[in-house]
Amino acid sequence: MTLKKSNANLSKELLEELQILRAAFPQQEISLDVIQTIEGTFDVSRLREAFANLLSNAAEHGTGGVVKAKVKKSEDAAVIQVCNEGKIADEKLEGIFDPLKRGQGFETGHRTNLGLGLFICKQIALAHGGDIVVKSDDGIVLFTLTIPLHQAD
Ligand SMILES: Nc1ncnc2c1ncn2[C@@H]1O[C@H](COP(=O)(O)OP(=O)(O)O)[C@@H](O)[C@H]1O
Ligand SMILES: [Mg+2]
Repeated sequence: MTLKKSNANLSKELLEELQILRAAFPQQEISLDVIQTIEGTFDVSRLREAFANLLSNAAEHGTGGVVKAKVKKSEDAAVIQVCNEGKIADEKLEGIFDPLKRGQGFETGHRTNLGLGLFICKQIALAHGGDIVVKSDDGIVLFTLTIPLHQAD
């Protein structure tokens, strides 16, 4: 994956993306806890896409309640978390970032309904020198995307 990086305030970009997702899922409450400025060198459109995938998954696959997003800084990385009520079975968790070949969803042509959403999130994270992990515990699903603020080329 080739990135188009520029200096940006990631908080501002993700806040904008969140507004778009709130409009797309008006019946879903989405909370955001964000620190004001996260300056770094990112491909912002790719990171917005990854954030949107996580939020739409939480809205679509969650079992109700508030979707909670958090964007913070930890050492030299941005940490983006999206959490919802629900459960992902152990056998699904294992390959959850692998591309799925599924018939369902292809007809709609929706980019997040191809079973590729999390695969794309993983590629975006890795291309930035970061990573994405998931946890499903006690009825809560939590995705954590960690992106270094600056990456060596
Ligand atoms: N936030 C979530 N809560 C519960 N299940 C999830 C969540 N995100 C993903 N999943 C599960 O992982 C699968 C793969 O997600 P994804 O790669 O985005 O493909 P898609 O959304 O098109 O099914 C989903 O079909 C769903 O079963
Ligand atoms: Mg999806």
